[in-house]
Amino acid sequence: MQKKSGAVMNLLEEKQLEKEENEQILRQKSRERLLEVARKKRKKKRMRKIILTTSLLIAAAATVTLCFVFAETILQDMTDVEVDYSANNTPVNEKAPKEDVPEFVSSGYDHIEYSDASKNSRYDSYKMQNPELSDEEIVWRVNANLDKPMYEFDIPVSGYDDPYIIVNKYYTVPEGYRPPDLEDFGGGQLLREETGNAYVKMREDAQKEGLNIRLVSGYRTVEYQEGLYNRYLGSDTQENVDRYSARPGHSEHHTGMAMDIFGSQDGLRNFENTPEYPWVRDNCHKYGFIIRYLKETESITGYEAEPWHLRYVGVEVATDMKEKNIKSFEEYHAKYIG
Ligand code: DAL
Ligand code: ZN
Repeated sequence: MQKKSGAVMNLLEEKQLEKEENEQILRQKSRERLLEVARKKRKKKRMRKIILTTSLLIAAAATVTLCFVFAETILQDMTDVEVDYSANNTPVNEKAPKEDVPEFVSSGYDHIEYSDASKNSRYDSYKMQNPELSDEEIVWRVNANLDKPMYEFDIPVSGYDDPYIIVNKYYTVPEGYRPPDLEDFGGGQLLREETGNAYVKMREDAQKEGLNIRLVSGYRTVEYQEGLYNRYLGSDTQENVDRYSARPGHSEHHTGMAMDIFGSQDGLRNFENTPEYPWVRDNCHKYGFIIRYLKETESITGYEAEPWHLRYVGVEVATDMKEKNIKSFEEYHAKYIG
């Protein structure tokens, strides 16, 4: 009985051991599963981290690229107008403005006698922007800098004593400039001698026909023009003022070869309605004058019509302009003088 009981005990112990062994195996398996789960979790976490980092890097690279492109565009726009004044005070090396324009192949401008090969790229750009203009128009307009914004360069004029000097929204005289041989031709109004003599002759001939021409504004200093221009700015927008008053340094009155005249009625704006106006319009070239600002030339000069503002250019040029029907001094200058 005792033996049987010992055998039972052994069996129980064995079962107990087996149970413990099984439990240990189960624990081991459970631990392995847990480790596997933890490993997978870590792997997932690492992958998420890699994906996040990659996305951030891509976003940063895209931002940097965009910034570069933006900066490049701005710099390109800023450098589009690079002026080299080395030759004749004329800008020659502007890059062509970037425009969305159709493909265009230039046939060259050598056949136009007043073309300048160093300006060929400007001619091409201007032609692309103004395909309706003839090659002749393109060339003289670019020669006159009309492909550039007015007031951008303030190109100093040279050869002050030259009667063909051009002063406009591109070409300027320096502060303190005073032309030679200024004389008083009435009421304290100064003109250069040759200009004044031509005015006197014209006034006398008009008088013979019962007409009355009076000089009211001749030579002006840059300082005087500055005061005048600023006075206008006090009561008008700059856009408007720029259409009737020159910025200081840019007025033809600085040359002593420009004058404003009254007819038989006072007032510049009345001049067009006086009998003196048609006479002056038809005869002033004989004395070397041109009416400098016409309705037709507003887009070229930047000024509205001023029938009272005459410019002395000499009989030869004034007559040639009339015969060739050239309305602006800019065009004549760009074609035959510049
Ligand atoms: N009125 C003309 C444009 C001048 O100021 O010179
Ligand atoms: Zn004037």
